[in-house]
Amino acid sequence: MKNRKLRMGMVGGGSDAFIGAIHRCGAFMDNQIELVCGCFSVNPEISRSSGLSYYLPEDRIYSTYQEMFEHELTLPEGERMDFVTIVTPNKWHFEPAMMALERGFHVVIDKPITFSLEEAKELQKKVEETGLVLALTHVYTGYPAVKDMKARIAAGELGKIRRVYVEYCQGWLSERIELLSGNNAGWRTDPKRSGKAGCIGDIGTHAWHLSEYVLGQKVTELCGDLTSFVPNRPIDDDGTAFLKYDGGAKGVLVSSQICAGEENNIRIRVYGEKGGLEWRQEEPNSVYAKWIDKPKEIYRVGNGGYMAPIAKYNARTPGGHPEGFIESFANIYRNFSATVRAIAEGRKATEEELDFPTVYDGVRGMQFIETMVEAGHNDSQKWQKWID
Ligand SMILES: NC(=O)c1ccc[n+]([C@@H]2O[C@H](COP(=O)([O-])OP(=O)(O)OC[C@H]3O[C@@H](n4cnc5c(N)ncnc54)[C@H](O)[C@@H]3O)[C@@H](O)[C@H]2O)c1
Repeated sequence: MKNRKLRMGMVGGGSDAFIGAIHRCGAFMDNQIELVCGCFSVNPEISRSSGLSYYLPEDRIYSTYQEMFEHELTLPEGERMDFVTIVTPNKWHFEPAMMALERGFHVVIDKPITFSLEEAKELQKKVEETGLVLALTHVYTGYPAVKDMKARIAAGELGKIRRVYVEYCQGWLSERIELLSGNNAGWRTDPKRSGKAGCIGDIGTHAWHLSEYVLGQKVTELCGDLTSFVPNRPIDDDGTAFLKYDGGAKGVLVSSQICAGEENNIRIRVYGEKGGLEWRQEEPNSVYAKWIDKPKEIYRVGNGGYMAPIAKYNARTPGGHPEGFIESFANIYRNFSATVRAIAEGRKATEEELDFPTVYDGVRGMQFIETMVEAGHNDSQKWQKWID
C-alpha cells in the first residue's frame, strides 16, 4: 500500500441506485482511494453499463458479487482490490460482507449493518478473528460540527448531561410511493428485504447513533412506539422512544418518514447543568450554544481557533463554505483508509484515524432495532431493557 491508492470494489451503487454514487464522491475526495472493480447492480446489464461509465476494464465488472470475490482473489496482490464497499438493500449486506472478510478484504458497509442481529454478531466475530477493518457509514457522526459538540460535552462545558432530544424526520413516504416503480421505497417498506423495521431501521438508527456518539453514553433501556401511518404498509413508517442512558441522561427520539414536507431534518439538542448545544444537519456548519448565565453563542466550522482539534481535523474549507453529507462520507473513508494503511505499515492507528463507526456500532444498531421492535409493537410492556 506504500505509494499507492487503496483499491476499492463495490457491491451495489450502479446507475439504478442512490447512495453508491455518494460513497464514491466521499471515497475519492482525499485522493487516497480508487475504484478498481464492482458488481454494481442486481441486474448484470446495469452492472456492466455502470462499470463502463466509471471507466473500468470489462474484466473487472462482475455480474454477481460471488464472481467478484472469486476472481479478485486470483489476481496478484498488486492488482486485486483492498476493500469492498457494500451498498445494497439490507437483506444483501451480510453475505457479501462475510465473503469479503473470509477472503481477506476490508469492508465498508452502509447501515443498518445487516438484516438481523444474529448476522451482525457473526460479522463481529469474523472481524475480531481476522483483524480486518470494517467501517459503517453512520454519516452524521462524520460532520465536523458534530465532532465539536462531542468534544465540548466530553470536556464538561455543559456540566452533567441531563436531557437529549434527537430527531430524524423525512416526508417522502407520506404516500404509498412504493407501489410506483422507479424508486427505492419498495425494499425499504418490505420486511423481507428491509428487516424487522422500516423507518426506525432506515433513519431511526442514525438518530440513535448520533445521540450515543455525541453524549459518549449508551442507551440501557427504552420505551418505544412504532406506527404504520400509511394504510396497508406492512412496516413502521414512524417511531418514537424515551431513552435512558448509562451516564444518567434521558432522551426523546423521534424518527419519521411521514412528516409531510420534511427533507432530511436530523437534529440533536443536548442539555446539561450549565447550558445546551444544538446541531441541525440542514445547517451543518453551526453549533448553537445556550447558557444559563450568558448570551447565546454560535460556533462555526472553519473559523478561528475555537473549534475542537478533532473538528478541525475533519474540516476542509475556511468558514462559510458548508461541509455536508458528502464531506462526512469522505471523513469516514479518510479515517478508514488511514487505519487500513496503519495496519499495513505495522503501526498503531491514531485516535483521529480510528474515529469512524465500526462493527461494534453495527451490532448496537441492530440491538436498537430489536429493542424498538420489541417495545414498539407491545402494548402491555412499553419499557424494554436493551436487548443484547
Ligand atoms: N448512510 C446513509 O446516509 C444512507 C443513505 C441511503 C441509504 N443507505 C443504505 O445504503 C443501502 C443502499 O441504499 P440505496 O438507497 O442506495 O438503495 P437503492 O435501492 O437505491 O440501491 C441498491 C443498489 O444495490 C443493488 N443490488 C441489489 N441487490 C444486489 C446484489 N445482490 N448484488 C449487487 N447489487 C445489488 C441494486 O441493483 C442497486 O444498485 C441500504 O442499506 C440503505 O439503508 C444509507
